[in-house]
Amino acid sequence: MLHTKNLDLSVEKIAVYTLLVFLMGLGTPEWSRGQQSVDTDKVITRIAFGSCAVQDQPQPIWESVNSWKPQLFLFLGDNIYGDTENMDTLRHKYGLLADKPGFQKLRKQSAVLATWDDHDYGENDAGKEYPEKEASEEIFMDFWDVSEESPVRERPGVYSAQVYGPPGKRVQIILLDTRYFRDSLETRALNPVQRKLGYGPYAATTDSSRTMLGAQQWQWLEKQLEKPADLRLIGSSIQVVSAEHGWEVWGNMPHEKQRLFDLIDETGASGVVFLSGDVHWGELSRYDGNDYPLYDFTSSGINQGYTEVLYLPNQQRVGPIVYPYPNFGTIEIDWSSESPRVKMMLRDINGKPVLKRSLSLNQLKAR
Ligand SMILES: [Fe+2]
Repeated sequence: MLHTKNLDLSVEKIAVYTLLVFLMGLGTPEWSRGQQSVDTDKVITRIAFGSCAVQDQPQPIWESVNSWKPQLFLFLGDNIYGDTENMDTLRHKYGLLADKPGFQKLRKQSAVLATWDDHDYGENDAGKEYPEKEASEEIFMDFWDVSEESPVRERPGVYSAQVYGPPGKRVQIILLDTRYFRDSLETRALNPVQRKLGYGPYAATTDSSRTMLGAQQWQWLEKQLEKPADLRLIGSSIQVVSAEHGWEVWGNMPHEKQRLFDLIDETGASGVVFLSGDVHWGELSRYDGNDYPLYDFTSSGINQGYTEVLYLPNQQRVGPIVYPYPNFGTIEIDWSSESPRVKMMLRDINGKPVLKRSLSLNQLKAR
C-alpha cells in the first residue's frame, strides 16, 4: 500500500527537492555510450588488453594504450572497484571510469570488449553467492554497450565470444565469466613468513563437485572451441596456468582446470592463448602437458602493482621476468607469412615493452 498522508507536497518543497535531485545529478557522471565497433569480417592484427583499474585514481596508461592504436581492447575484469551491494554506488563508480578522458578516447578509437572479475561483479573474491549479481549484470551490459539483441543479455552471466576475420585469418575472442556460477573456495592458514612474502589465502580444493564456470557455460565453451578459428584468445579474469601463490587462480579448483585443458585437446581447438588479469602484476606462464603449449599471458593492472610478487613462486613462468607495476598487454598478428606469427608484449605505463614473446601459429597446433 502506498502511504501518502505524511507527504508534504507544497510547491516550495517540490522545488527544493527538484533542485537537490538536479545537484546530485551534477555529481553523477554520464556514461560514455556509442563505443567503436569492428566489423566481424575485418582482418585483426592489433589487440591490447588489461585489467584492474581503480576508478578514483589517475589512469595515465590510457595515453600509451591509445598511441598503440589497438583495433580491439579486452578489459579482463576489476574494470572498476565497485565492491558494493548498492547498485546506485556501482553505477556511479562505472561513471567515474566513463569520465576518464583516456578511456573515452579508447572507446572512440577501439572496440572494447569486457568481462568482469570480483570487484566489478560487486564484492572482493565473490562467487555465485553475491546477492546482487543479476542487477550488477544488467549494469555491466548497459555500461559495455552489449546490444539489446545479443544472446549474452538473454542468459545468466556475462560470458561472450566473437570470431573476426576471413578463413585463414580468423581470430576468436572468448571471454569467460569466472564469477557468476563459481562455487566457494578453500582457504588455508598462512604462516607469518608466507604472509610477509605476500602469499594469498586460497588452497586447491579436493571437492570435485565445485565449479568455476557452471554447467551452461561449460557447454557453451565446448561449442565455441568447435568453431573454426586460427588464433583463439581465451580471456579469463583470473590466472589459468600459474598456481602457487595462493590468490585466486584456476588451480584452486584443479578438476576444473584439468577439464579446461582436456576440453581444448578433445575439441582439437588449435591456436589457444589464455589472457588473464586480477593479480596486479604482469607475466607469461606456460603449461606443457597438453597437445601443444598453452600460454597464459597476464596483464594487471591499469593503475595497480604488487611488488611482493617478486618473492612469489611460479614454476610455469617463462617470462623471463615478472613485472609488478602498471602495465598493459599487446598482441600483434602478422598474417603475411605462411605460418602467421603472434607477437605478445607486456608494456609499461609509457608503452615500452618489458616482456616479449613471439610465436608461430604452427606452435599452437597438436603435432
Ligand atoms: Fe580480482
